Amino acid sequence: MPDDETLTARPFEILINRKRIAEEVQALGRQITRDYAGQFPVLLGVLKGCLVFLADLMRTIDLPMEIEFVSAASYRRGKHQEDNLLIGGASPIPLKDRPVLIVEGVVDSGRTVRTITNRVAKEEPASVEVVTLIDKPTSHRVELEVKYRAFTLGNEFVIGYGLDNTQRYRNLPYIGRMIES
Ligand code: IMP
Ligand code: MG
Repeated sequence: MPDDETLTARPFEILINRKRIAEEVQALGRQITRDYAGQFPVLLGVLKGCLVFLADLMRTIDLPMEIEFVSAASYRRGKHQEDNLLIGGASPIPLKDRPVLIVEGVVDSGRTVRTITNRVAKEEPASVEVVTLIDKPTSHRVELEVKYRAFTLGNEFVIGYGLDNTQRYRNLPYIGRMIES
């Protein structure tokens, strides 16, 4: 168990407040609603970082839609990383012929989203695009097109609004920046 001091210490500062997040998420939702008019998309959330973003984003999209989840931790090595991904639970939604929007918390090196995109492509979807809360384009290490992003950051580590540092801080209602100590 962490001691009291570990639980209450605040090694972060607010970087993006709730109002700015809400505005950007609204704008993304409007754009997606326009771009997917007449379609029936699947929002495929990348656990766990997508959680809060997806919950807010889906309520700004004025279209019939479905959500599904993909679990993507520690597939950094090996030849066929996409084989290790788990899409959905007991009865995943078929992605064939569906417009798929991969919803991610942070695109850093881009390897996670690249792997998921490759895997989704095998299901023969109608289309695949990436939506991220935070994009770090200078950190990308693979070729990747991120069509929708709420915020662009440089090389800084952020937490809150679903994003963690060793599983903590996901419940912060704003995006914070870890302070070097
Ligand atoms: P990538 O495969 O390098 O793009 O890594 C993306 C994953 O790294 C995200 O899903 C996060 O789990 C983690 N990550 C990268 N940068 C951050 C950050 O600033 N805050 C929290 N998680 C991060
Ligand atoms: Mg993480």
